[in-house]
Amino acid sequence: MTIKPLNLLTTKLSPLTTMVAILILIILGFYSFHFPHSLKHSNKSTTFQSLFLSSSSNSTISSYLRTLTMHPHLAGTKSNSNTALFVLNHFTSLNLKSHTTSYNVLLSYPLNSSLSIHLTNGSFLNLPLTEPGLDVVHAYHAYSPSGSVYAKAVFVNYGREIDYHTLGVDVKGCIVIARKGGGLGRGTVVEKAEKNGAAAVLIYNDEGDTWRNGFERGNVMKGVGDPVSPGWGSVDGSERLSLEDNEVLERFPKIPSMPISADVADAILSSLGDNLVPLEWRNTLKSKGVISHVGPGPTMLNFTYLGEKKVSTIQNVFAVIKGSEEPDRHVLLGNHRDAWTYGAVDPSSGTAALLDLARRYSILLSSGWKPRRTIVLCSWDAEEFGMIGSTEWVEQNLINLGSKAVAYLNVDCAVQGPGFFVGSTPQLDSLIREVTKKVKDPDSKGVSVYETWSASDEGNNIQRLGRVDSDFAPFVQHAGVPSVDVYYGKDFPVYHTAFDSYNWMAEYGDPFFQRHVAVTGIWGLLALRLADDSILPFDYLSYANELQLYRDKLSNVLDQKISLLPLTTSINEFASAAKEVDSELKELRLVETSGQFVDMKRRAMNDRLMLAEKGFLDGDGLKGKQWFKHLVFGPPNDAEKLDFFPGIADSTTRSNVISEKERLTEIQHEIWRVTRAIQRATSALRGEFT
Ligand SMILES: *[C@@H]1O[C@H](CO)[C@@H](O)[C@H](O)[C@H]1NC(C)=O
Ligand SMILES: *[C@@H]1O[C@H](CO)[C@@H](O)[C@H](O)[C@H]1NC(C)=O
Ligand SMILES: *[C@@H]1O[C@H](CO)[C@@H](O)[C@H](O)[C@H]1NC(C)=O
Ligand SMILES: *[C@@H]1O[C@H](CO)[C@@H](O)[C@H](O)[C@H]1NC(C)=O
Ligand SMILES: *[C@@H]1O[C@H](CO)[C@@H](O)[C@H](O)[C@H]1NC(C)=O
Repeated sequence: MTIKPLNLLTTKLSPLTTMVAILILIILGFYSFHFPHSLKHSNKSTTFQSLFLSSSSNSTISSYLRTLTMHPHLAGTKSNSNTALFVLNHFTSLNLKSHTTSYNVLLSYPLNSSLSIHLTNGSFLNLPLTEPGLDVVHAYHAYSPSGSVYAKAVFVNYGREIDYHTLGVDVKGCIVIARKGGGLGRGTVVEKAEKNGAAAVLIYNDEGDTWRNGFERGNVMKGVGDPVSPGWGSVDGSERLSLEDNEVLERFPKIPSMPISADVADAILSSLGDNLVPLEWRNTLKSKGVISHVGPGPTMLNFTYLGEKKVSTIQNVFAVIKGSEEPDRHVLLGNHRDAWTYGAVDPSSGTAALLDLARRYSILLSSGWKPRRTIVLCSWDAEEFGMIGSTEWVEQNLINLGSKAVAYLNVDCAVQGPGFFVGSTPQLDSLIREVTKKVKDPDSKGVSVYETWSASDEGNNIQRLGRVDSDFAPFVQHAGVPSVDVYYGKDFPVYHTAFDSYNWMAEYGDPFFQRHVAVTGIWGLLALRLADDSILPFDYLSYANELQLYRDKLSNVLDQKISLLPLTTSINEFASAAKEVDSELKELRLVETSGQFVDMKRRAMNDRLMLAEKGFLDGDGLKGKQWFKHLVFGPPNDAEKLDFFPGIADSTTRSNVISEKERLTEIQHEIWRVTRAIQRATSALRGEFT
């Protein structure tokens, strides 16, 4: 079914907003007529920032969300191409220049599955494979191989290496049951089970007290992007690797897996015998009352999964607001559109925010706003299958992104519940703090997001973007674009289940849609500053501090025989470049005039600020994961140890049989690589040849 464009939602301006807009127009017109020299850019910008903030509407966002979540919209399906059309129509109805880019990529869908439990007394029971009564895709793990296994069940806690060690039982040929929450990605849980000889894996989410009949869908592929076009955009007619190619095969697990609900898990686990549940596992189990043993067996499971991998068409949708003074500098705002089911939180809360942002920017445009730089709104497809839509686009546009993208601002699950969360590359820390001071807290009257955030457990902490769980990954980790990721709430219980619906959002996630308003405000304001400030609001002192912190943490875990001196020296040089830039910026900000000379000066400084991040990229990428080019932020093999300098982290945890001497040499080599990366960033920041 097609989604009818809702005209009333797209361009509706309240009479008050229109009046304010007209008033601003008159005032601006008056100033530019009478005081052409006093009309400074920053003043105009502040006015448009206020107009942006005052044009929010929670009821408009809630109606966008309702429309987007009327049907499940899984990537590659008709109903998701309908959402692409809806987004495109919304953009064009606002007179925004918009277009779509399509790719043919390898997706994965379930065909048939079954799971039954066989007790020792001879009785058996078919277990549910999906939420009851809802017309959504059956629970599955995308890219799981097909397979059929009849074997003993065994519980492996979070499925970490240490859990197999604690368990101390041979799981060869068994069906292992793992719960989510040990810090491992879904694919890694399957990989570890495979390594330990398991025949199949069932994963459940034990974290929630409610919604325990939900199934958490997800993908289990390694890496990101279309597996058959690694490193290049999979446009029509482009090269495509064969499914038998080793590079393709090694991205998929070898043993079948599937999500099960916590209820199904409890039914299986409560029937297990043999070994007792280790105490350290037991204490954090939600259903500890019914689970006493971990198996293996005597309960047998009969598990069959039949799936298909299929080349399907996906669509990214864009709206472009051309910059007036520096049209070749781009601020990108992105959110994915595809969902496992109805996807009210994930990702439609973000899509609703994107649609509202477009509406509000169009109000600014009709009030005379001309952004200095170009703003691009991006609606990505197939994120759930491994950031495929954004990755293909980043790969296709790598050079332009590398030289012309000022920043990428991501919003995935905009609202999952209460509390503000943010991640960024460190040069954007200060801007985030400034912007959150301007946006009203959605849950307490009279205070800003910043105030509540500072008083929270988070204590205005900013996370880093080394994770590979949303569309910022290709921008930061492949293209080196300064990036931000914003969201409200975390760990929502209906994640990737059929219960992630509009009703859940309206009842639990954001009853008044004010958190949506706050996210849209922060997202839109960040972009306004990045697009309109004549000097980019970047702060590299913060980056220097962060690097120093990493160095200190590293020195606490590394062998004394390893020399950190080169790294320390490079960070000190980076810090002194950051200080010099900071004072140059202070001077440059004092210059009030415009004109060719000072404009060139600003532009040159902005280029240094924009390009410094690229220094952290390394053409060779991370060992064994060459696509990941960023040596400061990226996915380590074992995220429990270190969550920065992924190359160094991996060299310390490499478990293959090499001598101690070789191991130390490898760690030292990785330290040198990071050292050189920081030197490159320093010289980009200084903007001068040696
Ligand atoms: C511009 O902004 C500054 C600081 O916000 C203010 O002092 C000044 O009066 C403004 N000028 C105009 C013309 O609005
Ligand atoms: C799915 O499995 C059921 C029962 O095991 C069987 O009847 C049906 O034919 C299967 N369908 C497909 C498409 O394989
Ligand atoms: C087997 O055991 C289960 C669980 O204790 C019980 O529900 C079921 O009725 C038993 N079946 C037979 C055939 O005894
Ligand atoms: C396991 O399930 C499959 C598919 O439903 C079925 O064909 C097979 O007979 C079952 N095996 C056992 C041992 O029950
Ligand atoms: C919008 O916010 C107001 C004030 O918080 C609230 O009364 C109203 O119910 C909200 N609208 C929606 C659709 O949630």
